[in-house]
Amino acid sequence: MGVLDKIIDAIVNLVVFIWDNTCAILNVVIPKLEPGHVVPKGAPGHGQKWPPYVPPKADDSRSACPMLNAMANHGILPHDGKNISFQELNTKIRQTYNFAPSFCFFVPRFAAGFLNKSYFNDRFELEELSMHSEKAIEHDASLTRHDVALVPDQGKPDQRLVLDLLKTATGKCPDGSPQMTIPDLSRALSRRRADARKSNRAYSESFFHNLFGSANSATMLTIFGGRIDDLKPMLMEERFSDNWEPRILDRFGLTMAKFNFTVIPVERGVDPKKFQ
Ligand code: HEM
Repeated sequence: MGVLDKIIDAIVNLVVFIWDNTCAILNVVIPKLEPGHVVPKGAPGHGQKWPPYVPPKADDSRSACPMLNAMANHGILPHDGKNISFQELNTKIRQTYNFAPSFCFFVPRFAAGFLNKSYFNDRFELEELSMHSEKAIEHDASLTRHDVALVPDQGKPDQRLVLDLLKTATGKCPDGSPQMTIPDLSRALSRRRADARKSNRAYSESFFHNLFGSANSATMLTIFGGRIDDLKPMLMEERFSDNWEPRILDRFGLTMAKFNFTVIPVERGVDPKKFQ
């Protein structure tokens, strides 16, 4: 990256930071969305009605991200997972998961960056997002995939890993159904980091990747409210449960500022030594 690119990047990040914090403040003062009305009118999933689930075919492109794969499985992104623009990804994740517009711009732009593509002009396929590099998002010790050195196809969840994860839930939702908590997720990440270190000779981790791992998995607690009944179809089959909608009722969606109140405690609770 040249000096000019670095300056542009720093300015864009600053603007995103200000934009995100503005959304966070507006979310405090503006009335919340009504449950049942989170996905906007005209978008797939409005009124908790999702387009039908069609499992991926052999030549469909899928990523290491369960939540993006689910969008393709329901036809919200192209079902073959190909020829997607970064701007389309931005709009669709905003509508589907009620993340703040700042996040929905920041992460696809970050992905365009590590793929060496233009956020505004280029297209990608889902599989490309699984690029394994210190500059990209995919990392070892994921909760739903074995490491790429052991299982090169990162496009499918490992059923055993997912079941182990879902079993860790100790919380209860108001209706009595099982719920994953922050300590549950920290424990699951600790165990995966300890296990992956033992089983994968090429194992690597970094502060940046650990934080991404905690951020990815913290969406299970925020967007999914930790609800195992909704996480089970999402993580096992990459499918929305019937009548699902994001649990975030903030009108400007889940900001990075607010998300950090879950991500940081999750990461601080991780202690792989307990599982060595
Ligand atoms: C904005 C575009 C997004 C991109 C480029 C992206 C990319 C990725 C990638 C590459 C991974 C694999 C990380 C690993 O090695 O574990 C991942 C994992 C994950 N992502 Fe996404 N993602 C995006 C949006 C989302 C959204 C909107 C959600 C939730 C609503 C989400 C939830 C998750 C979860 C839960 C995992 C963890 C899977 C695991 O640990 O096995 N992602 N994502």
